[in-house]
Amino acid sequence: MRLNSVAKSILIACLTAFFAISANAQAPKLIKIKFDDPIARVQPNMWGVFFEDINFGADGGIYAELIKNRSFEFAKPLMGWSILRSRPQEGEVLVVNREAENAANPRYLQIKKMSDDFELINEGFKGIGVKKGMRYDFSVLYRQLQPGVKMVLLLKDSNKKIIGQGVFTPDQSGSDWKKQSVSFLARETNPRAKFSINFQGKGSIDLDMISLFPGDTWKNRKQGLRADMVQLLADMKPGFIRFPGGCIVEGTDLANRYQWKHTIGPIEERKMLINRWNTEFAHRPAPDYYQSFGLGFFEYFQLAEDIGSDALPILNCGMACQFNTGEVASLDELDPYVQDALDLIEFANGEVTTKWGRKRADLGHPKPFNLKMMGVGNENWGPQYLERLAIFTKAIKAKYPDFKLINSSGTDPEGDRFNLLNTSLRENKADFIDEHYYRPADWFLKNAGRYDNYPRNETKVFVGEYAVHADKKIIGSERNNWQSALASASLMTGLERNADVVQMASYAPLFAHIDGWQWAPDLIWVDNLQSYGTPDYYVQKLFSTNKGTDVVSITLDEKNIIGQDGLFASSVLDKGKKELIIKIANNSDQSQNLDFDLQGETRLKSKGTIDELVSENLKQLNSFENPEALSPKTSSIYLKGRKLNATLKPYSFNLIKIPFN
Ligand code: AHR
Repeated sequence: MRLNSVAKSILIACLTAFFAISANAQAPKLIKIKFDDPIARVQPNMWGVFFEDINFGADGGIYAELIKNRSFEFAKPLMGWSILRSRPQEGEVLVVNREAENAANPRYLQIKKMSDDFELINEGFKGIGVKKGMRYDFSVLYRQLQPGVKMVLLLKDSNKKIIGQGVFTPDQSGSDWKKQSVSFLARETNPRAKFSINFQGKGSIDLDMISLFPGDTWKNRKQGLRADMVQLLADMKPGFIRFPGGCIVEGTDLANRYQWKHTIGPIEERKMLINRWNTEFAHRPAPDYYQSFGLGFFEYFQLAEDIGSDALPILNCGMACQFNTGEVASLDELDPYVQDALDLIEFANGEVTTKWGRKRADLGHPKPFNLKMMGVGNENWGPQYLERLAIFTKAIKAKYPDFKLINSSGTDPEGDRFNLLNTSLRENKADFIDEHYYRPADWFLKNAGRYDNYPRNETKVFVGEYAVHADKKIIGSERNNWQSALASASLMTGLERNADVVQMASYAPLFAHIDGWQWAPDLIWVDNLQSYGTPDYYVQKLFSTNKGTDVVSITLDEKNIIGQDGLFASSVLDKGKKELIIKIANNSDQSQNLDFDLQGETRLKSKGTIDELVSENLKQLNSFENPEALSPKTSSIYLKGRKLNATLKPYSFNLIKIPFN
């Protein structure tokens, strides 16, 4: 076939363009890693988790109690309970208050069984999740004024079909308060069952702390934590657990602040408190949200120990939430607040011969918990915070000079409030400044270099709360989409690169119940029976399980990789495991062909791995039905000498590991 000259020129132009485009698409970018030249140490506890009882994260969540309002201390004493009887009898069920005798737990239920049988029903938090074949442990505090009442325990589905049954026969001797338990099995699985007590016979019995726990708690501890939720945490190997918050530390006013001393010891003596998320958001009211403190400070320390994390308690600094009352403790009455902080250190670390060390031992943990740090204040700000913080700091450092204190920088990572605190706290040589950012994805991308020029001195940064907040039109669990997680991952490379400055970080909040959340996004979503990690969870897990020991330089055109062509990167060595780890996010809609030049003398093995978190759908989610839709997929990669070529997929986060000798 003969082409005329016009056709020839078109063909040549097309071929030239084609080769130009392919050459361009294929021309690898050169990324240099200075392998033998660490630039910073990574703290072993760098990547942690933030726990707060928000979104029914503790009560109704990880604390496995299934009975709501078990001690009748909600503002409405029978909230969560209902009574089913054919012929009502006045005075058969009474809420009795004995405040003078028991101020921490004043109310109980008095049952006077006179005629027909009736039922007392508890709806659970958002229903009661029960599993076929599982053991359920019922317990109650009771005293009998007139023996003769028999209690049949029932689990029922929404059609009132009985799906589990036990019998509780009160001990007939004596009329003192006593605790007794009985266990029974569930015959069916149901995520929203109800629990009821069918009262039979005649007599009078007082009841309190009516409780039901599943038999499969974490480490099979009686009245313990939900194993599936703890397991998700344990799998992350978090460096620390920040607890108990968050704003619940502050309380809406000082009377409703979190007080750790009220959260230890027998659960019936832990004074219940309204949860500040009960009323915080008018559009997400939670009238049945209270803090039973079944998960209290001893359990937090125990949890941290179980999963190998440092405990990081945050204490009230004598200030209530400044978005609410902003009430402050008078400076000359700050002593009890400061004393709480000093006593907490003794509770965690003191010899068993000390007052608070003895209490820890009595709770079953004579060995110290080795507490190293604590936060004074959550999101507090202004000169009133600085004044109070100074008093705490002086007292704590006088007694425990090496103990590290976390200071607040308020609610935002910029602005007047932030600037005042950031400047003053640095002048005061604060150990750690706690920065919080809940911002859109593009803020995260623009701030990946935030710490590259931060002051390098004794004051370190703790990024104590952060999460990408998508457009407000996206609600609930849909906010934990891939776009958010990828932007977080991108910023986190900037935290890692600056691990000499940013020594700890935790995504927030941690848990949310799908039927009871107030705040989204959240790292892990749960219902009454199941839990799943969001794409953010897998990002966090990749960082925390591959934290390394030393940061090394990774550059593109001799510059930090903070957004060139949508790339964000950091790199660490793990000297213990003998691995070079590269974390690199591709935030563009194009594949990226990269040549990694691994500069140094250390001998690398020729085969490594790449974990890819990837979806071209930025709205991609995980869900109860498909919990690992977006989770890392691992494959092998091969080096040629000291060179590695890799093509990063569009919208991907990649963790490359290369072993060395
Ligand atoms: O993480 C949710 C809330 O966000 C925390 O309670 C508070 O510290 C912040 O404002």
